[in-house]
Amino acid sequence: MTRSIKFTLKPRWNEIEKIRNRSRRFLASHGLSDDNVQAFTMVISELIENSVKYGKFETSNNEVIVDIQINGKTVTVEVINPVDETVYTHLKALDKTIQWIRGFQDPFEAYVERLKAVAKKPLDDDDSGLGLARIAYEGQAILDFFLSEDHILNVSAVSNP
Ligand SMILES: Nc1ncnc2c1ncn2[C@@H]1O[C@H](COP(=O)(O)OP(=O)(O)O)[C@@H](O)[C@H]1O
Ligand SMILES: [Mg+2]
Repeated sequence: MTRSIKFTLKPRWNEIEKIRNRSRRFLASHGLSDDNVQAFTMVISELIENSVKYGKFETSNNEVIVDIQINGKTVTVEVINPVDETVYTHLKALDKTIQWIRGFQDPFEAYVERLKAVAKKPLDDDDSGLGLARIAYEGQAILDFFLSEDHILNVSAVSNP
């Protein structure tokens, strides 16, 4: 049996906390352990932050969609936002990072590599590049993405604790 919930939010930082709390409540009410609720809420939160940070929103198309599904012990989240040509370098980085994480047998190694890279960066650089590695390691989730012809990006994370 699949149980799901869908949220839409405006791409603003202060909206993220609300969705984080509602996601946490949804996961907790479906029998996940506290640790798994905590971990997967972080996954959802990192993906939404990326949408808000890298999405290209216009007045007609200015929402982030968050779709969470629970199927047995598997939790899936899809985070969806519009993009345009100006963020194609980011989409390449997204693709490269996801492929790079998959190349490690243990996502912990990817996370440690990222931590080392972060340590070398200047302090004011807010693109830590840690989020996706954190999703793979702490969230124990598999990342994927899909870009539709009408410039809608769908990034997903699937956990199977
Ligand atoms: N939703 C997204 N849309 C476009 N590019 C993205 C998205 N999410 C991630 N990326 C790209 O992947 C890179 C790695 O993401 P992440 O690990 O979360 O690090 P950070 O957000 O700190 O840069 C980002 O720097 C960005 O270039
Ligand atoms: Mg990020």
